[in-house]
Amino acid sequence: MTKILNVDALKTNFYTYEGVVKALDEVNFDIEKGDTLGLVGETGCGKSVTSFSVMRLILPPGKIESGRILFNLDKQDEILQPPCIDLLQQTDSFMQKIRGNEISMIFQEPASALNPVYTVGEQIAESFLLHRKAQLYQEALKRINEELKEKKIFFPGKVALIWESKLCSKVLKNPKSFWLKFLSIFPCIRTDKHRIKKIGMEKSANLLRSMSVPDPDRTVQRYPHELSGGMQQRVVIAIAIACNPTLLIADEPTSNLDVTIQAQILELIRALKEKTGTSILFISHDLGVIAKMCRWVAVMYAGTICELTRVKELFEKPLHPYTMALLKSIPTAGVERLESIKGNVPDLINPPSGCRFHPRCPGAREKCTQIKPKIEKVSENHFVACHFYGT
Ligand SMILES: Nc1ncnc2c1ncn2[C@@H]1O[C@H](COP(=O)(O)OP(=O)(O)OP(=O)(O)O)[C@@H](O)[C@H]1O
Ligand code: SF4
Ligand SMILES: [Mg+2]
Repeated sequence: MTKILNVDALKTNFYTYEGVVKALDEVNFDIEKGDTLGLVGETGCGKSVTSFSVMRLILPPGKIESGRILFNLDKQDEILQPPCIDLLQQTDSFMQKIRGNEISMIFQEPASALNPVYTVGEQIAESFLLHRKAQLYQEALKRINEELKEKKIFFPGKVALIWESKLCSKVLKNPKSFWLKFLSIFPCIRTDKHRIKKIGMEKSANLLRSMSVPDPDRTVQRYPHELSGGMQQRVVIAIAIACNPTLLIADEPTSNLDVTIQAQILELIRALKEKTGTSILFISHDLGVIAKMCRWVAVMYAGTICELTRVKELFEKPLHPYTMALLKSIPTAGVERLESIKGNVPDLINPPSGCRFHPRCPGAREKCTQIKPKIEKVSENHFVACHFYGT
């Protein structure tokens, strides 16, 4: 199968006053086209730092130190280069085009991802305008031509439509032209913008309708604070998928929602994936949610990937001692006592030497304290980073 994303030996640090937080230590994983990879692990293990690194959104004092993030540009688009680029080698302006167009992200906290001073329709429409401007203008031009043909329009109206059509053609030809910028000084002359806003709002309402949002025409007129948490998260998802991204990163998209709404949002993401074929990196600390949503899973511990395999295989045949402990700590029907993982999550300023799990690992030996295990293929579709896996 075609790989859409290949993360190779990714290292990210944060240079804080207390010391260097070694948040990611040579993280490796792949995502195949149309597939969903779950990233699971305890709080602070580096799930969000991984997603922010892929988006190239690590801000100072953070720094991506080394590694490669190969992204396969599956969709050929006039703004992009030939397939397979290393995102870490791209310019900031190129990354701005990639974000939203090719890779979108759904954040953990929907309220903070939305702007309180704009209606939700305006925010979804803005996403269309930023990433699918040409599509909106083509639609506008089509409507203008239909109006010119169909209706009996008299002199002033006809002139206004012809002017609007000229503006739209100019935008399609060269959106950054000096002439258009000059005309923008007089907003009443840029009549194309009113029509584009209307089309954007219609498209936003249609998108919300396809996501089973009740009364989408009124919802687009509302401000984020007027919506429930579940509805806000639907809007965040709508903004993320408005541009049909090749890769969607969902960072704990349901962790702050109650169980019924959580189930609805998960179902929504699953249905969208079926419909659009988008590849997904799905982040969660809940293995149950990962089992529902993903075909592949990468288990993360203290900034490293310790096991990567198909979800079914992880539950049936876990090989890494941390995965085994994690599975024993999930509530299961009939099991009265849950086993917690002894010890604490390590301090990433001074992480343990060798295998970062060794202070908590029941099978740790001398070698584990000195040599970091590399993630290696142990059978078809199963990768483990442990010197003594399965023991
Ligand atoms: N801006 C920052 N400055 C310093 N350290 C940071 C910063 N952002 C993240 N870290 C550190 O990087 C490590 C990984 O954090 P990250 O947010 O990726 O964890 P997580 O797995 O997403 O946890 P959670 O499940 O709680 O969301 C943590 O030790 C965290 O303290
Ligand atoms: S390498 Fe050693 S310490 Fe690390 S998980 Fe394997 S057995 Fe445990
Ligand atoms: Mg996180």
